[in-house]
Amino acid sequence: MERAVKLEKTLITSAWPYINVTPHLGNLVGSILSADVAARYYRLRGDDVIMVSGSDEHGTPIEVEAIKQGITPKELTDKNHAFVAELFKKWEISYDNYTRTESPVHKKFVQNLLMKIYGNGYIFSKEMQMLYCPHDKRFLPDRFVEGTCPNCSHVKARGDQCDKCGRLLEPTTLVDPYCVLCNNTPIVKTTKHWYIDLSKLSDKLKRYLTNNQELPANAKNFSLNWIEEGLKPRAITRDIAWGIPAPFPGAENKTIYVWVDAVLGYVSATIEYSQWIGEPEKWQEFWLNKKAKTFYFVGKDNIPFHTIILPALLLASGEEYNLPWNVSATEFLQFKGKKASKSQRVGIWIDEALEMFPVDWWRFFLMATRPETKDSNFSWDLFVEKINSDLNDTFGNFIHRTLMFLNSKFESQIPKPLNLSNDDKQILQTIKEKVDNMAIDFENSKLQSSANTLISLGRIGNQYLNENEPWKLIKTEKQKAANVFYIASQIVKAIAIVSKPFMPNIASQICEILNLPINKKPLKWDNALQPLPSGHKINKSKPLFKKIDANEEELENKLRIIRKSDN
Ligand code: MF3
Ligand code: ZN
Repeated sequence: MERAVKLEKTLITSAWPYINVTPHLGNLVGSILSADVAARYYRLRGDDVIMVSGSDEHGTPIEVEAIKQGITPKELTDKNHAFVAELFKKWEISYDNYTRTESPVHKKFVQNLLMKIYGNGYIFSKEMQMLYCPHDKRFLPDRFVEGTCPNCSHVKARGDQCDKCGRLLEPTTLVDPYCVLCNNTPIVKTTKHWYIDLSKLSDKLKRYLTNNQELPANAKNFSLNWIEEGLKPRAITRDIAWGIPAPFPGAENKTIYVWVDAVLGYVSATIEYSQWIGEPEKWQEFWLNKKAKTFYFVGKDNIPFHTIILPALLLASGEEYNLPWNVSATEFLQFKGKKASKSQRVGIWIDEALEMFPVDWWRFFLMATRPETKDSNFSWDLFVEKINSDLNDTFGNFIHRTLMFLNSKFESQIPKPLNLSNDDKQILQTIKEKVDNMAIDFENSKLQSSANTLISLGRIGNQYLNENEPWKLIKTEKQKAANVFYIASQIVKAIAIVSKPFMPNIASQICEILNLPINKKPLKWDNALQPLPSGHKINKSKPLFKKIDANEEELENKLRIIRKSDN
């Protein structure tokens, strides 16, 4: 999977967050933040990158929450979408288009595509039994109903899934079901729904999955197993008012199932972006051009929707859309060993996190502990350790002491090297290897490893300074000290560029101190290893980080105070 050719067109996407609540750090880490780090990397490489996502606005969780708040679903999602879109900007998420499933472009696209699939014979309708609440006069799909799980006897299983045992459920199989709105017992009523016949697509899906060399093993095996077990027709309509109206003849009062709606947003968001920038055909370079690469950053529970449902819809449309190329799925971020839960106050939300510490600190921390192969566990102790020891003592300290020394002993100029020792040359070689490794890691979505290699650049730099003691050399052998600082400043230069995907603000600050052009001609990844010339003048250095002087308990308290003032 090493980079063979220069990627030209790169589409980066992140799972669309449900907008009934503000996301917590666990929602952010695997999808939104990972996608942003990747997008920034590919832009640095010089690719033509489009990064899209949006708010997942439809579905029963939104409607239930709106009813609870006594407002319409649209009022709820208008409010939350605006709030969250603004928060993502504060997190420096560089979306080209962060849109929403209520966007007219999206709704029209979904309806048109589903009509193509219908025309191609993959969709049929069928009568079925559904729970109905006579009190609220509505059908109760998905999360409108709860009851006892027929599988594990958990008493609060939802109509679509049991949180305890994880099984996907049908509402009619719940024992002692009750309406989540009024608690009354529902009745069973016959209704008609439209289904996509996934079994007809099995062979094509299998071929796609088997031939795709980019899909990580977890996504691939899970999906192939599902096909082996036999794909069944899946209902794609619902009897609820909030959603995209189903376009099929006879389906007048039905809406589209939220997952079918949302996954198609990847295409519609690219189309919408192309229209905005006045190049309405541009989306085709990413969706129809077979050389384009497409990345999907999602949580592991989203895998089948991206490797089965989305490809199935795209294939059934009969259009030559690119199917997902790389689906990078993360495990879960837990908080002290528990799943985040707003009602139980477990977890940290993305608005309050930024009230505690600067965004770049969080971005680095979350990537350095990204749950890539197993669940990761947040604790303030770990956070403090990563910030204090990795960012402050290792990374920041190396940069600041190097630049300060240039300021004070070399008149803020990059010194002229003369007769570099083998040791000096070896350091430059090591730095090159590390930078190349970071690139390979980025391209294999190993963002955690890449973040930790970034810190190792600072570690190598510090060791090099400590071994050579240039503060002593400067008094006796000035040229040797000059050589050491020449090398050290090249390491800082590399760091200024390769840290950009993780910490865009810190990277700009380093570039500013190094007096590198940031805006005129943006620097590219390949500039990282081009040496700063002797005589190049830098600006005055300043510390980039500050140690956190607080323990777990004090930080918990601080968070509690922030929460109180927010509510
Ligand atoms: N809203 C879903 C979730 O939070 C993710 C939707 S991803 C998409 O789990 F592809 F469907 F948009
Ligand atoms: Zn009811």
